Amino acid sequence: MEKRPVTWWHRASVYQIYPLSFQDSNGDGIGDIPGIITRLDHLKNLGVDVIWLSPVFASPMKDNGYDVSDYTEVNPIFGTKADLKQLIDAVHQRGMKIISDIVLNHTSDQHPWFIDALKNPQSPYRDYYIFRKEKNDMQSLFSGPAWHLVPGRDEYYFHFFAKEQPDLNWQNPTLRKVLYQILNDWLAFGFDGFRLDVIDLIGKDIDRGIIGHGPYYHPFLSELKKEVFNDTNLFTVGELAGSTAQQAAAVTGLPDGTFSMAFQFSHLWLDEQPGKGKWALKPLSIPDLQKTFTAIDEVYSKQGWNALFMGNHDQPRPVSRYGSERHRYHSQTMLFLAFFGQRGTPFIYQGEEIGMLNYPFRSIKEMKDVESLNYYHDQLGKQAKATIMTSLKAKGRDNARTPMQWNDRAQAGFTQGKPWLKVHPLYRKINVKRDAKSNVSIQRFLTTLLNFRKKHDVFLDGNLSYRSFQHEPIYAYTRSNQEETLLVLTSFSSRPLSIQFPDFMEWEPILTNHPTLSLASTMTLPPYFGGLYRKRSHHAND
Ligand code: GLC
Ligand code: CA
Repeated sequence: MEKRPVTWWHRASVYQIYPLSFQDSNGDGIGDIPGIITRLDHLKNLGVDVIWLSPVFASPMKDNGYDVSDYTEVNPIFGTKADLKQLIDAVHQRGMKIISDIVLNHTSDQHPWFIDALKNPQSPYRDYYIFRKEKNDMQSLFSGPAWHLVPGRDEYYFHFFAKEQPDLNWQNPTLRKVLYQILNDWLAFGFDGFRLDVIDLIGKDIDRGIIGHGPYYHPFLSELKKEVFNDTNLFTVGELAGSTAQQAAAVTGLPDGTFSMAFQFSHLWLDEQPGKGKWALKPLSIPDLQKTFTAIDEVYSKQGWNALFMGNHDQPRPVSRYGSERHRYHSQTMLFLAFFGQRGTPFIYQGEEIGMLNYPFRSIKEMKDVESLNYYHDQLGKQAKATIMTSLKAKGRDNARTPMQWNDRAQAGFTQGKPWLKVHPLYRKINVKRDAKSNVSIQRFLTTLLNFRKKHDVFLDGNLSYRSFQHEPIYAYTRSNQEETLLVLTSFSSRPLSIQFPDFMEWEPILTNHPTLSLASTMTLPPYFGGLYRKRSHHAND
């Protein structure tokens, strides 16, 4: 096959910062930009190339910054525009890049555009939003109808998320121009690119009930590329939660994509009951995961570029979701191999480098997330409270949002004050400082993997083929190009599994999460084993 064009971001690794919960610098219990600056060396040492910053723009924080009230200003709880500039410079000085999250599908209901649109029937901003006299039965992703009656008026506005997040009407050309200008201004300010929140919703056709991947999507993306993303050096990652891998691949990569890469979610749907949404829990089957990963790679082997991720600020903690809290080190390191050996750019969410866990929530009172609270109140009376809580504990977004655990001092070193969301009770055991000193260090394992990845092109262009074993919880695949063949061997089992490995002689270990485990014709994989192997070269015979 012809080699596809490759640029710096194909080889990069990305780290997502959720500013609210990363590092507080002034004791108000809220993470902030000056706090982030004090932690950049940690990211540099990890081997990270790009930082993705969740939104720091002006916001009433109904959805923690994904409800923007001014795209041109920094939320004072996070700092000032000067602080942001300093952060960007400090990142660049360390040879890293930084991209901003940007939410263009909706604004806050406190955005001056929306306030004016509500107040003034003649407002030019009315057409920036979606008003209708009649509503259809579309539902919001955050529970309840997607239409909200305008107080005192005989009409509704559309909101796919919380009612405080009215959707923008991308069909208005003036609005689109304004949004492109906002993006270009932030590029001029110093960002190296963007993560585009739920961007596959912008082509929606509400009147026909189409929300994701709508009829106007591709024309808007072409325009976006022409007006803003015409430089292939920019790092852009689209959040395409409603797209298939095929649809995601079609809009990414070189030479034709609008985005460098995209998050597609097909692997995240596997532990929910089909069509019933994230709260309808279903145990994950590893053969399903394997099939899904193989199908995704099949798509990306032909076109586009993938963003590899196991977690983010919306997802449960990977160890709790896919592994075992009792086998934390092994689960987390195994997951790094299972996910990051694939074709795509790895994304690490803050805390994964130390195997942070879901929070042991006991009551709804401990939760803050609008999605969780809405779901709880919507479901009370429809389901038993215990069932609702089981879903929330497994999937609630606050699991990912508890403060970063830096050390064993008060509040895990996150704040001198009272944190906005409680610190995980196990922080004395699970923190960056302790992990770094441990002889089973998750962050060290990750760094080794990221550095190895960068030096081996087989991760870019190697074919992926699934390798089958006798046991279902084993997920294994090879990557091979003309230079070399690698094998990723992982076990999602909490029990030891014995396997046959007839060609064991051919493989040498590169990185394993148990003291260097060499392969053998009959061998036992320890719980949550993860190993990376390389096929020995046969120079002697050449
Ligand atoms: C994205 C964000 C999520 C937010 C939603 C609405 O999925 O990642 O945090 O709530 O969009 O903006
Ligand atoms: Ca603060």
